[in-house]
Amino acid sequence: MRKQIAAANWKMNLTYQDGEKLLDEILDAGISLAPHQHAIFAVPFPYLIMTRSEVAEEYNFHAAAQNCHHKTAGAYTGEVSVEMLQSIGVHYCVIGHSERREYNAETNAMLAAKVNLCLEYGITPIFCCGEPLDIREAGTQNDFVATQLKESLFHLTAEQLRTIIIAYEPIWAIGTGKTASTEQAQEIHQYLRSVLAGKFGAEVADEVPILYGGSVKAGNAAELFASPDVDGGLVGGASLVAADFVSIIRALK
Ligand code: 13P
Repeated sequence: MRKQIAAANWKMNLTYQDGEKLLDEILDAGISLAPHQHAIFAVPFPYLIMTRSEVAEEYNFHAAAQNCHHKTAGAYTGEVSVEMLQSIGVHYCVIGHSERREYNAETNAMLAAKVNLCLEYGITPIFCCGEPLDIREAGTQNDFVATQLKESLFHLTAEQLRTIIIAYEPIWAIGTGKTASTEQAQEIHQYLRSVLAGKFGAEVADEVPILYGGSVKAGNAAELFASPDVDGGLVGGASLVAADFVSIIRALK
């Protein structure tokens, strides 16, 4: 079965102490994941080593960075390289979150460079795509997200593509409490998979987990994840509350 993933994105929230307490509470819930199920915590950079050691003994629990730089190394004050992440044992990195595309002017070409570096250093990119509200209202969301995939991922080989994770996050659903309906999520996830299949073949496309993000909550996770092409979620607000994120992990297929 394709990997099913509950990924927390803490964004710029929580102190170190609060983050550690939250992780402890989640791990204390005694969740036992099946081999195809994974829980990932995308935490602020200063918390990565702590998170990695907290989850070290837990089966299929992982730490992730929320971003990395698109250059290998050098005079980029304040930035964090993929090699640095690798050197502290981090194996996942969120790439191209809509907040970074918007506030940090990240382009599809820059994200392609980040994906390449991640793959070079053995880090799994969690590649984000998703349309803003005006595009959804105009009904052109399929073309919009297909372009995001084409410009950042279509240079990869099929062997590389089968190792990545995609997160579809409609911008109008992020932090708004307005979730895509299960039908909307399934429809666009199926479309994204068909775009991948067109380029890389159906067999490869079938292996790539496509997560849904945008107001995933304890109360709607099971319904969203039940759709055949929704392979879990990338969760912001609800990942900051232990009981809620535990329920979301438990909602994985
Ligand atoms: P919310 O779950 O708070 O809507 O955030 C979604 C998100 O942006 C996860 O990356």
